[in-house]
Amino acid sequence: MTRFLEKILSPAYSPDLDELYLLPGKADLEPSQIDISTYFTKNIRLKIPLVSSPMDTVSEWRLAVSIALMGGVGVIHRNMSVEEQVRNLEMVKSFPPIPLEDLYLLEREPCGRAIDAMRKKGVRNMPVIDPTGSLKGYVRYSDLLESCRDGSIPINRFITPGVSFDLPLAREAVKYIARGESDVIAITNGGIYIGSLSVHGAMEPIDPVIDDEGRLLVAAAINPIDIERAKKLDRLADAIVSDVAHYHNSEILRASSKLVKEISSDFVAGNIGTAEAALDAATHIERIDGFRVGVGGGSICITPNVAGVYAPTIWSVASVRDALEAQGLRIPLIADGGLRSASDIVKALAVGASTAMAGYIFAGTDEAPSELIEVGGELYKQYRGMASITSMMRRFSMDRYAKIVKNIPEGVGGLVPYKGSARSVIREVVEGIRIAMGYAGARNIEDLWAKARFIRASKKKTLGGRDG
Ligand code: XMP
Repeated sequence: MTRFLEKILSPAYSPDLDELYLLPGKADLEPSQIDISTYFTKNIRLKIPLVSSPMDTVSEWRLAVSIALMGGVGVIHRNMSVEEQVRNLEMVKSFPPIPLEDLYLLEREPCGRAIDAMRKKGVRNMPVIDPTGSLKGYVRYSDLLESCRDGSIPINRFITPGVSFDLPLAREAVKYIARGESDVIAITNGGIYIGSLSVHGAMEPIDPVIDDEGRLLVAAAINPIDIERAKKLDRLADAIVSDVAHYHNSEILRASSKLVKEISSDFVAGNIGTAEAALDAATHIERIDGFRVGVGGGSICITPNVAGVYAPTIWSVASVRDALEAQGLRIPLIADGGLRSASDIVKALAVGASTAMAGYIFAGTDEAPSELIEVGGELYKQYRGMASITSMMRRFSMDRYAKIVKNIPEGVGGLVPYKGSARSVIREVVEGIRIAMGYAGARNIEDLWAKARFIRASKKKTLGGRDG
């Protein structure tokens, strides 16, 4: 066979996520007994294998807080000034590890509207703040019901003092609520309202991941060439995560090798798509604490369409894991791109990933930074690739010194259905992962690597209708 013909007839084959299924294995555990804790990097252990993508419609401090409260980690995107990125990290690090909500009323709010708000939330009291964010006190549902004859009277007439907790003591609020004295407690920082802990929040099953000082874990994205930025984020971020589409590039490898000598936080290299890239990086760079694996697989990626280049996520993860194991290297892999459900995630874990990074899964949540949009009675949020035209335009206006290296967009954007709170989305995904591992008979992620067996089958067809 001629060499060119050979090239097109001999490539590796990667099954699509939709045609690869786990086979059931012998199980001796209930899903709730399965341990899904895992390594994000060599030194950072998470309680769940979920990481949010560093994208400007996904990961800012709000989402990072919610993910860390649930045991995963958010990677703050880099499409902002370094000062903004530092501020985002500080917000996460100063946030108490309890589920706070924006649950407050404004002084001039008509009492009728306040009654509705409390009914909707199912609480008997709510904090009131003034336009500067200072906590003024609380209003009680019972007081309003009694006296709010004309529903338009401003609630400042009904404000009474009440207990609030300043940030360092925020965790005490959980115990206070447990005593049943209040349904909502305001958390403040020097008198300024930060958020509210509600009776519902206090009962929420959360399992935060925290650092040695009891602060939530968080990571930050950088371009390895931008060593100055990395130095400013160092230590505040538990991990510095490389965020370039093609990491297997001599200039990036050289820059990374310098960078790891300048930072003390863990360093995640990526994105890589092949075993060769992993081994080259591991040889050139003194310290790699994790790899982001997959090129062109993201739901908003058009690299395969515009460049004809694609390293499918599960194929890349499996290839990289095999190559590292052959060298005796234990570097955690983050599977990145195209993982849209618990079943996709569990397949990526089963082929050797330690965690799954996702943008699409989180883009429709309350905590994602984009606005809620209503179209035809349905709610959506915007989601866009970091190499999409709108995202690139924002980047160059945010950072006048950025070097434009590519002129053709490699990402697209669109609307994704609104999904409510990130914590409820995470709970559902985690439940799905546990169920899948239960079927596979795996008691933890390493056990899944050992036991998972696959079958290739065409996408399962189901009845398209609704229940009942
Ligand atoms: P999902 O499937 O979770 O993928 O939405 C998120 C991942 O996609 C990558 N990403 C991009 N890839 N062009 C690309 O080729 C882009 O504009 C782009 N933006 C993000 C990134 O790895 C992310 O984690």
